[in-house]
Amino acid sequence: MASDGVWAVLVAAGRGERLGDDRPKAFARLGELPMLAEPLRRLDESDWVEGIVVVAPAGWEEPSILVAEQIGASKVSACVAGGETRAESVRAGLVEVPEEAAVVLVHDAARPLVPGEVVERLLSALGEGYDGAVPAVRLADTIKRAPGGVVAETLDRAELVAVQTPQAFVAGVLRAAFDNASNSLLLATDCSSLVEAAGGRVKVVEGDARLQKVTTPADLERVEALLNG
Ligand code: CTP
Ligand code: MG
Repeated sequence: MASDGVWAVLVAAGRGERLGDDRPKAFARLGELPMLAEPLRRLDESDWVEGIVVVAPAGWEEPSILVAEQIGASKVSACVAGGETRAESVRAGLVEVPEEAAVVLVHDAARPLVPGEVVERLLSALGEGYDGAVPAVRLADTIKRAPGGVVAETLDRAELVAVQTPQAFVAGVLRAAFDNASNSLLLATDCSSLVEAAGGRVKVVEGDARLQKVTTPADLERVEALLNG
């Protein structure tokens, strides 16, 4: 195994409560196939990606492998069950990433449309010496902190970004961040949070509107339109 390999951990173990399908979100239909097929195919086709670990909802490992076979994905080395939180699912996936991997790309299956350019931007940021890199887009709305529904503060929008996945990390840095994470960090909604808390330097690169996350049925319609567009 090359020591400079890039491995992807595709987290698909969420329940998808806000989507409200009768199946887990990764198995909701997107076009003709379960949503999982789209990000898996795109990562599999990336020349940068050497191997892929799929993290499936418990009991959905077998159907996940079938999806990989159906699309002819050739880089999936393991499919494991996820945990109660996203971070626990990532941790379960990381265990299956070979020691030799130099870089880990963590991606949400709920963001089916992964543009190759974003992967290139992330990897070139790591090439500049950063511990991690995340794709982000600017915010259109004014953002306020409002604990308990009362405005406490208006944040400076010029400094704020909305962060997407895939997120890329030096493998050893990501593993150490997970090894040392406090319980509250296991509730974090992205991996960068753990690396930041461990003191890692994370570069922001240009994200992509196509990376929008499927959370609600309306999001699924929007991503479906992008897929067919
Ligand atoms: N995820 C995961 N394991 C969890 C929770 C989330 O692998 N225990 C994954 C999801 O499958 C998704 C990504 O993390 O690809 C982002 O999570 P989110 O959009 O919140 O998905 P769900 O948790 O499935 O949705 P919901 O919060 O509406 O239940
Ligand atoms: Mg969730």
